[in-house]
Amino acid sequence: MTQNAAIGIFDSGVGGLTVFREVVRILPHEDIVYFGDVGRYPYGGRSKEIITKFARQDIALLQEHDVKFIICACNTASAVALDDIAGDYDIDMIGVINPGAQAAVERTRNGRIGVIGTHATIGSNAYARVIHDIDPALKVFSLACPLFVPLAEEGYIDKEATYLITRDYLQTMHDVEIDTLVLGCTHYPLLKHVIAEVMGEKVTLIDSGEETARVAHKLLSDAHLLSASTSKAQHTFFVSDVPEKFSSIATRFLGRHIEKITRVDISGY
Ligand code: DGL
Repeated sequence: MTQNAAIGIFDSGVGGLTVFREVVRILPHEDIVYFGDVGRYPYGGRSKEIITKFARQDIALLQEHDVKFIICACNTASAVALDDIAGDYDIDMIGVINPGAQAAVERTRNGRIGVIGTHATIGSNAYARVIHDIDPALKVFSLACPLFVPLAEEGYIDKEATYLITRDYLQTMHDVEIDTLVLGCTHYPLLKHVIAEVMGEKVTLIDSGEETARVAHKLLSDAHLLSASTSKAQHTFFVSDVPEKFSSIATRFLGRHIEKITRVDISGY
């Protein structure tokens, strides 16, 4: 494994670009190969068996590109599949759950943490498990907020409807007086300003993607695998269906246009 090999990132689709964005910010010299499984998106309402099969195929595709390290950007796949399969590979990989959970434990002051995510992520109880492994005395309140994903994808980030839905979803988090809220889904950072406004300034929001990028930096540094290249970092994108929708949403998520996106047949992996 060479230190100048790329980092691989996979997600169920375009949402993982919120994690990609943080990895680029924190690791600007790293080449990155990103795979978005747009053809089989969303993962959030699927079974563990299907999500695990998809995650294995996503990893196989990244391995074909000789990546040195893999980040599972998808909260759902991280929560449901990653722990079971990571040991089967000789490449280091991390998901977004542990970094997000760890950050929440460090930042809560009143010991009451909220977690929001897809149905699969919340149903897996993965965040609560990791938080309780670190400190069993903490109280964790989990809630699926599935409508946030299409709202973010459709660019409904400043609309009254989004505020209404957010207030409705998060009322219970207010009621239980959390002081820290984990944004446990790739798309939720795009609604951060709405969620922050609804929850109020006393509640700290945890962006799992940002925390994951920090952990990736530390792990690569400890393993002496940070890139030594001085040339401009290369970012390569693969998707499992037509790239047009990915491309247009990506422009909104990243604030810039992605030049080249290659379509692959993921079923063959
Ligand atoms: N990427 C997924 C996650 O972070 C959200 C979209 C989906 O359901 O596939 O959980």
